Amino acid sequence: MAMSQSANLAEKAMGHGDNAVTEQDMTNPARDRAKYGDPSETMKALAWMGKNDVQMVETNKPKIIEDRDVILKVTGSTICGSDLHLLHGAVVELQKGDILGHEFCGRVDSMGAGVKGLKEGDRVVASFQIACGECMYCKKKLSSQCERTNSNTIENAMYGGRTAGMFGYSHFTGGFAGGQAEYVRVPMGDVNLLKLPDDVPDEKGLYLSDVLATSWNCVVDTGVKEGDVVAIWGAGPIGEMAAEMSFTNGASRVIMIDGGAASWRLDFCKEKLPKIEVINYTDLPRGTTVTSRLKEMEHGGPDVALECVAGEYAKGWAHYFEMLLGAETDTSEIINEMITSVKNFGRCGITGVYVGFTNHFNIGSLMERGIRLIGNGQAPVHLYWEQLLQMIREGKTDPYKMLTHRVKVEEMDIIYKKFDAREDHMQKIFVQTRFSDPPAKGSPALTTYKS
Ligand SMILES: NC(=O)c1ccc[n+]([C@@H]2O[C@H](COP(=O)([O-])OP(=O)(O)OC[C@H]3O[C@@H](n4cnc5c(N)ncnc54)[C@H](O)[C@@H]3O)[C@@H](O)[C@H]2O)c1
Ligand SMILES: [Zn+2]
Ligand SMILES: [Zn+2]
Repeated sequence: MAMSQSANLAEKAMGHGDNAVTEQDMTNPARDRAKYGDPSETMKALAWMGKNDVQMVETNKPKIIEDRDVILKVTGSTICGSDLHLLHGAVVELQKGDILGHEFCGRVDSMGAGVKGLKEGDRVVASFQIACGECMYCKKKLSSQCERTNSNTIENAMYGGRTAGMFGYSHFTGGFAGGQAEYVRVPMGDVNLLKLPDDVPDEKGLYLSDVLATSWNCVVDTGVKEGDVVAIWGAGPIGEMAAEMSFTNGASRVIMIDGGAASWRLDFCKEKLPKIEVINYTDLPRGTTVTSRLKEMEHGGPDVALECVAGEYAKGWAHYFEMLLGAETDTSEIINEMITSVKNFGRCGITGVYVGFTNHFNIGSLMERGIRLIGNGQAPVHLYWEQLLQMIREGKTDPYKMLTHRVKVEEMDIIYKKFDAREDHMQKIFVQTRFSDPPAKGSPALTTYKS
């Protein structure tokens, strides 16, 4: 946490780069009402107020500040596992009052004169990243790595390059207000919004924003192919959809690993995807490790390992304390488990979020056994979303497999706590606002928590 705030100070001292073509650090219209806020209306939004503290706030509706802006009436949003990293303060450069949320869909409320191909009332989904559409990466649709929407200097120095700007994901990725709100401003809306056809309800189309593209990227970027045995760490929404999509890509076996407070997720995934096999790491007998169990299940271990957890979740005390003391930002335990588990020359893909540096990395096993370790990156949504929309329409991927709850935006502060504690068997939620349509056929009915 101290690191998060010192990164804010360092960023201030060093100043932003000059690469961004869109306004930076507009994480809440109330930051500068006159410049960013529409005086005619207020809105409800979920704001980060400090470590493990998110609150509902009443703030200004955003207004158009650039020619290619679209203001959306949000009709659906959700919480991602990545939002928990913000809640926990694991991601640096958050500021009090930042509006969160990077997966959302809605209807066009208004737009700047430079927006082509959209009109008021259009139903659209946003990509979690903000891309310019024209730079070297955008030309290849590698939208998550756009060079022109994030001018953060700390990220550039730490990583040797920047990611694109992202909605509701701290000043480290540009400082954009997110979509866990009633309205949201989408910069370069003609590039970062995809129209949803009438046969795809919000309750399915919303997930093109992030989880579907991320799971698909995890599977194809790590190279899951016909006949592969795939092990997946983490049975959250990303791991679950990566399991479904591994089968789509021809995997012969998929083994999911999870445990602790989220053990129920293994049963949940098994119910939705009966072909999967599971390992509950908290139930393993003394002397049996995830690696040894995987080798018992498959000679030599799986061909492919997919990381759908995150570096902030230490398994043992050693890494817990190293992180607490600032000796590392991320644990190496899960990646080491993946490396030692796969067959020699096996592949390991990392999709779960890792922020900085890790200790005790098993580089020996990686080198000697020829393991291919692949950072999957923030998923380039634009590369995949049209194909994935088609897959939804043809029933080749089904977001309802992970969707368990429909909740109200007004209750998001409570929902964050429940989702974080893995309570109420909350796998993936759909957040409605006053602008949402009634629940689509086959999607969950509304659950309310405040009386
Ligand atoms: N790369 C991208 O573009 C991208 C996009 C979206 C999400 N993500 C990341 O993907 C990860 C998964 O997302 P999610 O929404 O499914 O998150 P989630 O938090 O809902 O699920 C993570 C799961 O990992 C499990 N887990 C914890 N420690 C474990 C261990 N040692 N072994 C096995 N499982 C363990 C947890 O119990 C939990 O069920 C998160 O880190 C998220 O930030 C990345
Ligand atoms: Zn996400
Ligand atoms: Zn770009």
